[in-house]
Amino acid sequence: MCGIFGYIGTNQHASTFILEGLKSLEYRGYDSWGIALQKDDGTVHITKHPGKIGDAKAPNVLSSLGIGHTRWATHGGISTENAHPHTDCTGEVVLVHNGIVENFALLKKELSLKGHLFKSETDSEVIAHFVEEMSKTSDDLDEIMKQTKQTIDGMNAVIILFPKKQLFYIIKNGSPIVIGKASDGYYIASDATAILPHTKEVYFLEDGESAKLTRDSLIILDAYGKEKEPAFISLPYDAQLASKGNYDYFMLKEIAEQPTILRAISQNAHAEVSKAAKLIKDAFGTYLIGCGTASYAALAGTYLFSKIAKRHVNNSIGSEFTYLVDFLTNKSLIIPLSQSGETIDTISAVDHAREKGAHILAITNSIGSTLYRKANDNILLNAGPEKAVASTKAYTAKIAYLYLIAHEINGTYKNGISNLNLAIDAIVQLLHEQDAIRKIVDDIKNQKHIFILGRGLSYPAALESALKIKEVSYVHAEGFAAGELKHGVLALVEKGTPIILFNPHDETYEDTLSAAYEVRARGGYVIGLAHDNHEAYDEYIHIPDCQDATVLPNVVVAQLMGYYLAIAKGFDPDKPRNLAKSVVVK
Ligand code: G6P
Repeated sequence: MCGIFGYIGTNQHASTFILEGLKSLEYRGYDSWGIALQKDDGTVHITKHPGKIGDAKAPNVLSSLGIGHTRWATHGGISTENAHPHTDCTGEVVLVHNGIVENFALLKKELSLKGHLFKSETDSEVIAHFVEEMSKTSDDLDEIMKQTKQTIDGMNAVIILFPKKQLFYIIKNGSPIVIGKASDGYYIASDATAILPHTKEVYFLEDGESAKLTRDSLIILDAYGKEKEPAFISLPYDAQLASKGNYDYFMLKEIAEQPTILRAISQNAHAEVSKAAKLIKDAFGTYLIGCGTASYAALAGTYLFSKIAKRHVNNSIGSEFTYLVDFLTNKSLIIPLSQSGETIDTISAVDHAREKGAHILAITNSIGSTLYRKANDNILLNAGPEKAVASTKAYTAKIAYLYLIAHEINGTYKNGISNLNLAIDAIVQLLHEQDAIRKIVDDIKNQKHIFILGRGLSYPAALESALKIKEVSYVHAEGFAAGELKHGVLALVEKGTPIILFNPHDETYEDTLSAAYEVRARGGYVIGLAHDNHEAYDEYIHIPDCQDATVLPNVVVAQLMGYYLAIAKGFDPDKPRNLAKSVVVK
């Protein structure tokens, strides 16, 4: 959560670079934002605003050194005072912070007793005052930074600007931070895509490392304070992939990109798929883990491996996995699924598994991310930057990989590819027929609840679909195993309650149809997603038979429904309230 951006170099347009960088990082938090720019006279211009950046203009200040922040509130409400950057009492220490200073209360108490005056309720401001306090007895900034790093507990990334000295330091432990090297200086961000417009050459700081940057130098210190040569890598994608193009919102753009991404997986994934299949076959116990949308991909994996590969593969929500690790051994295989590769609950789960000697195969969308670096083996989804908070293309890419791995284990890879290709064609078709989905959305947009039912493979798809609808439209949506309907959910069905029914022509068909009748008998409004229409449906969306890959187009329908519901209700689908894309705090 929270996005941080910094620039130090020779170009006088730091103000614009930082504002644009923050816009790119806004998916990480959009409660408030702020920018600090060092002026030629050594003073600092700070601007802070509650709310989203929107159409705000960059501060009209010429500067070649500055930092910025877009906030997802943890400590302290949404206000100008709590927005970053924060300063010490003197204004000579200016910082932006991503993470949580777990021992901030104690530090704040000690610093208050020493006379420091706090302007905000944040944990972050404590760091500025701590640095100020240390500076009273030492002017060795390297040493002060070392002490600061050792003193603040928790998973943090901080950029600390010293305006008078015209330099800044970065401290990193847990939260991601990447340094880009360009011809006009250094760009720093929480996420590499924010740096892409300036350079592709990036270095991902490791946990425990720190950096000291001047206009023309970069020094990286390892966790022990020893200078190290940073190994820059070249990012494999272009800046335009991270822009909205002709779309109003990233969410619709990312939904529309799915056929291209899935086609690339269908054509190019075999080597990675067989590597993963071998790891699963050789492992004594495999766990798929993830949070949010990735947790539903993990659950889908259990169903896919059971049905297709005849193999038991466990799954767990990232934050719960910590409580399931006792029996892991060095023969266990853990497959964390994560778009960002930065979700702290998934990372913590992986850390626990690593302590037990388990092998880690990360499936992520972010080269150089924390999970990518912690894993023994990696599969990159290659879905391109995903900016909308609600994950769409990364989800279907994960499902495609898991689906193909299951087929590879079963020796039916070619069959898997042909079903995946059918699913891609079905998605293309759906994208051409969005009017039908918009019409249904228009019919149901004023309902309080939407239920999504499915059995077997369609059950995890129903859970993911409900998440997609609720997180962007704020309509209460819940996915259920269709068989559970009569065990409680039915009590919630009233006249007109929309029920989206995933009813592919597989072994679940007849039983799912019974659910449709049961709902209809109570006045529910059944929207059937199936290969053929049926009298049990009030509305029908045709989904071609893609065998076990039918879940892919089914979920795309829900993605579009969520998107159009959000639009119909006047909400920004890219930035749902209270949420952030990368959840790097517990
Ligand atoms: C947040 C996002 C979700 C995402 C989840 C896991 O909650 O809003 O869209 O599914 O984190 O993110 P990851 O990057 O690990 O897939």
